[in-house]
This record gives sequence, structure tokens and C-alpha cells, in this order.
Amino acid sequence: MPSDPVPPSACHVGVVFGGASGEHAVSIRSANTVVAALRQGANAERYRLSCFYIDRQGRWWPPAVAEAVLERGVPAEPADLPDPLAPGGFRGFPDGALAVEVWFPVLHGPNGEDGTIQGLFSLMQVPYVGSGVLGSAVGMDKQAMKAAFAAAGLPQVAYACVEASELADDLNGSGALLDRLEAELGYPCFVKPANMGSSVGISKASDRAGLLEGLRQAAALDPRLVVERGVSARELECAVLGTTELRASVLGEICFDADWYDYTTKYSEGLSHTVIPAQVPAELAERAQVMAIAACRAVGASGLSRVDFFFDQGSGDLWLNEINTLPGFTSQSMYPMLWEASGLPLVELVHDLVQGARESRGIPLSPNQVP
Ligand SMILES: Nc1ncnc2c1ncn2[C@@H]1O[C@H](COP(=O)(O)OP(=O)(O)O)[C@@H](O)[C@H]1O
Ligand SMILES: [Mg+2]
Repeated sequence: MPSDPVPPSACHVGVVFGGASGEHAVSIRSANTVVAALRQGANAERYRLSCFYIDRQGRWWPPAVAEAVLERGVPAEPADLPDPLAPGGFRGFPDGALAVEVWFPVLHGPNGEDGTIQGLFSLMQVPYVGSGVLGSAVGMDKQAMKAAFAAAGLPQVAYACVEASELADDLNGSGALLDRLEAELGYPCFVKPANMGSSVGISKASDRAGLLEGLRQAAALDPRLVVERGVSARELECAVLGTTELRASVLGEICFDADWYDYTTKYSEGLSHTVIPAQVPAELAERAQVMAIAACRAVGASGLSRVDFFFDQGSGDLWLNEINTLPGFTSQSMYPMLWEASGLPLVELVHDLVQGARESRGIPLSPNQVP
């Protein structure tokens, strides 16, 4: 039998991906990048890797299934999974999961980026990459995120929080909600469900009919909504890394021809491209980096985050748009590209993330794991 190439002292990392979220398919692509990097170069000796797959119904699957999903690169259909299928949701760990020493969640959106899985790992007292329960939950919900940014005095475009129940009252004829939004924000404005991602459920309204339709559409996805004044601005992004000390990367810019960065523009080949580093004055880049770190502190995020901005070139205004506490890791994703351009290649980036998880939870590094 061939001997195991991974030394016995290697740290056992569990990569968990997929998830009961609209961003399930993106998570598989992200996980492929992370897994390849954790198996490459010096990481091959530093880490023993086990992969776990959460299917779209929330069932957890062991490494044999997970590796097959990574290999195919697409979500597993029920027919691809071993029979009999348990009911959906977490029903306990598959074989091998309890041996994991550090978890690396590569999950985007609800049920993974929102504090739920972070709560499970916290209860188990096993370290994990990324933000804890608070930072994940606040970063995920756009109402809570905006309130935290406002409390920290960070600049944002004018916005209003709306509950779906207020819309029901308006549909009964009062019109008070629409009057309030028109007075506070005007047109164009953007209507967003508070807990989605990938631009899902977001619309741009240019008049009262569009606003009502946008609110209806968002309310079908989430009882919590946000409406924002629309701005005409460049879209800049900054990657943040670290636990007690946070570091900000160079900036990147998303460029696209569409009116705004909607789902189709985000995920269709050739409709958008990134410019790294963003072609902006050094003073602006520094302002954004400071603001990116302040945004992480405001929501209690740590480990890794991507912070997104709107920049109005005419006025010089820089507004925070949002924070993503588990940003994409696909081969075209901004987060790893920003670190690459900042001098931290992917293999070292994932190593830093795992080490950060261990240090922040008081687990000392063994000498052979210090690079
Ligand atoms: N207030 C706004 N003004 C102009 N464009 C906006 C505004 N809000 C959102 N957008 C556009 O919609 C896109 C998606 O919005 P965002 O809040 O980032 O949602 P998601 O979390 O789904 O990425 C942005 O990248 C931008 O193109
Ligand atoms: Mg966004």
C-alpha cells in the first residue's frame, strides 16, 4: 500500500461547501479553488484535508460524495446521492467530521454566511475560518449591516428600511409607504431584500409603479427590505484579512456595460470585467482601505471580508455599499485576485486564513506549521 503523503502532524482541515442557499452552485466553484490551494505547494504537508458537501436541501455528506461533487463541479441532484435520502436539514455529522481540527466554511448566502454554521462550530468549540456568529449575521442582513455602519458614522447613500407588512397596508390603499419613500429617496431608487446576495430580488425603480413592483418582488423573498437612493457611481472593492489585526488589499474596480450590476451581468461570461488595481488616486485608495477596515469593525467581522463601495467621480463621494463576510473564491473572484495583486498568492492566502482561525481561538501553532 502506498504510504500516506501527509505527515501525521498535519492539521486536519474540513472544507464544507454547497449549502441550502441560492448561491449553492457558486459555492462549489469557490470550494474547488480553496481545496486546490490547500493541497498545493507547502500546504500539501501542512494540512490533511476532508471535504464535506451540504446539498441544496441542507443534508451533510461525507468526503466520498463531496469529492465527486467537486470533480463534476455542479450541484448534486437527488438521483446522484446515495439512497435512502434523509429529510432535509442538518441531522448530525457524516463520518470523519468529528476529527476535523479547523473548519473552513466555503458557503455563500443564507445557511452558511449568516452565522448559522458559525454557531454550530462555536458550540463544538472547534475553530473555523472567517467571522463569528455576530459578524456573519450582521454582515448578511442589509438592514442590520446599514444600522451598524450608521452607528459607526460611516458614509452610505440615503436609505430606508421597510418591512413587508408595511407594503400590505399600502396595497390596501393608504399609499403612505410609497409617499414616504418618494419623499425621502426619490427616483431612481434600488429595492433590495435584506438577506439575499448576487443581486437576486434587487430592482431599480424609476417611478411609483416600478417602486411598487420592486417592493412586491423583494417582499416575496424576504420580510425585511431596504430601499436606497440610486447613485451613478463607479464600483470599487477591497479585500480585508486578519483577526486581531486587519489588513486591507489594493482596490479593484468592477466595470460593466449594463445599467447596474444585476444577476445576468454578474454571472454571464464577458458582460463584466475587473480592473486590479483600480485606477483611482492614491488618496482615494487609502480612504477606501481605512473605511474597509472600519466596516469590518462596525459589524464585528474578522478573518476575511470583501467590502464594496460606490465612488462618485464628480463629487468625490465614497460610500460604503456592503460587506461580504464569505466572499466568492472562484477563479474569477475579486477576493483572491485582490490579495494576489497585493503580494499574497492564493496558496499563502488560504494558509493565512487557517492559521488565523487557529490563533484567534487560542490554539497554538505547532513548530512544523510555522512557515
Ligand atoms: N444605491 C444604489 N445606487 C446605484 N446602484 C446600486 C445601488 N444599490 C445597488 N446598486 C447596484 O446593484 C448591485 C447589487 O447591489 P448590492 O447591494 O451590492 O447587492 P448584492 O448583495 O446582491 O450584491 C450593485 O453592485 C450596483 O450595481
Ligand atoms: Mg453586491
